[in-house]
Amino acid sequence: MSQRPLSIVVLAAGKGTRMRNGRPKVLHPLAGWTLLRHVLTTARKLEPERLVVVLAPGMEEVAREVRDSAPQARIAVQDPPLGTGHAVSAARGELAEHGSVLVLYGDTPLLSRDTLMRLLAARDEADAAVAVLAIRPPDPSGYGRLRFAGDALVELVEERHASFELKNSGLCNSGVMAFDAARLQSLLAALPLREEKNEYYLTDTVALAVARGWRCCAVEAPWVEGVGVNSQAQLAELERLWQERRRAELLDAGVVMPAPETVFLAADCEIEAGAVIEPYVVFRPGVRIHSGAVIHAFSHLEGAVVETNAAIGPFARLRPGTVVKAGARIGNFVETKAAVVGPGAKANHLAYLGDATIGAGANIGAGTITCNYDGFAKHRTEIGPGAFIGSNAALVAPVRIGGGAFVAAGSTVTEDVPEDALAIARARQQTRPGRAALLRQKLQKQSHQRSKS
Ligand code: UD1
Ligand code: CA
Repeated sequence: MSQRPLSIVVLAAGKGTRMRNGRPKVLHPLAGWTLLRHVLTTARKLEPERLVVVLAPGMEEVAREVRDSAPQARIAVQDPPLGTGHAVSAARGELAEHGSVLVLYGDTPLLSRDTLMRLLAARDEADAAVAVLAIRPPDPSGYGRLRFAGDALVELVEERHASFELKNSGLCNSGVMAFDAARLQSLLAALPLREEKNEYYLTDTVALAVARGWRCCAVEAPWVEGVGVNSQAQLAELERLWQERRRAELLDAGVVMPAPETVFLAADCEIEAGAVIEPYVVFRPGVRIHSGAVIHAFSHLEGAVVETNAAIGPFARLRPGTVVKAGARIGNFVETKAAVVGPGAKANHLAYLGDATIGAGANIGAGTITCNYDGFAKHRTEIGPGAFIGSNAALVAPVRIGGGAFVAAGSTVTEDVPEDALAIARARQQTRPGRAALLRQKLQKQSHQRSKS
């Protein structure tokens, strides 16, 4: 493990104007999380003593996301933003004076903990002032390049200043850098203002360190880990890369997915080995699928737990707060929200179950609706174990259906039904023998008269 204490600085003061939608760049979503949440989650895995996020003035929404995804993080404000070197200077007061400082970007979300550990260890081992994480992206345009003298890293050169030869070297600065904390402080103080952009470049720390006789080094990472987001097209590309990587991990771990390229996963979804995910399933954040569960095609799940041997879909929608217990069954065109569906219970077709508790083995008929909302507040429906709800029942909440009770099809239930009771809440049927033929004759005669007049 590399030198402690570890301070991590996440830079996120950039405007991200190329996203062209007015939204701060780091709040754009990747696999259902913001870019920033991905970075902060990875940062937290390194268990830093200090975690600082650098923001520009007025980035309230971003500050909220920081507090939400990493409550221990401090926020440093860079006012006005004058480059990456200036951004780290803005965080200076929050950093430990010794140990290591790791600089990450809020818009580079695919970094892994292992890669960062490798970078920190390499800096440590070489006793380097600066260690740079290098990548070889298929399209290197826009990246700074690493210049070596022999084996030694001597300079980071921004693309516009790079020689033809250096540009073609292919080895790029991912932006991630690790520093010796004590030497960083003095390097930051010495950064020159780059007149062409009116910025202080963090990358200039390398040449400065080398001029002082301090060693610098580089570690190469898989290029996908260092890919940043500058446009909507890059964000979509990153989503694709993220999905590919996560699908491969799940397949490796023993999840059954016959068409993985059609399954969309979220950052935090947990799917156990032996679960079956059929084609065209979309997972939003907060999902947990236990072993032996089957998610049939075209289902959409968010904030839901599906326990062992339960089956969902095809075409089901599980919304936040849904728990489908072992062996339960949610069929086609069933929507659930804040609903606990007991072990072995069934809602096989066309139903809405919102703010509901459904007991073990209950049967929910097609077309059943829990009327949970009166225009002002949400109310709960409780259905006891083994109850039978006939088709097309409207259960007007708050309402309780006792265990083993039977609700007749087409009922609109507004009062509680005790255990083992039969509730019928619909107009009684009238049947008149022979009247269909008489009615038909009458209608035919009327139609005749109309066509003559
Ligand atoms: C930077 C590097 C470049 C590297 C590339 C990788 C410099 C001078 N160049 O260039 O070598 O290949 O990243 O993507 O560092 N930020 C602030 N405050 C600022 C400016 C930027 O917090 O004043 C943040 C941005 O929000 C972003 C990160 O720093 O998260 C990088 O800034 P950006 O402008 O994208 O740098 P590049 O020009 O891409
Ligand atoms: Ca960038």
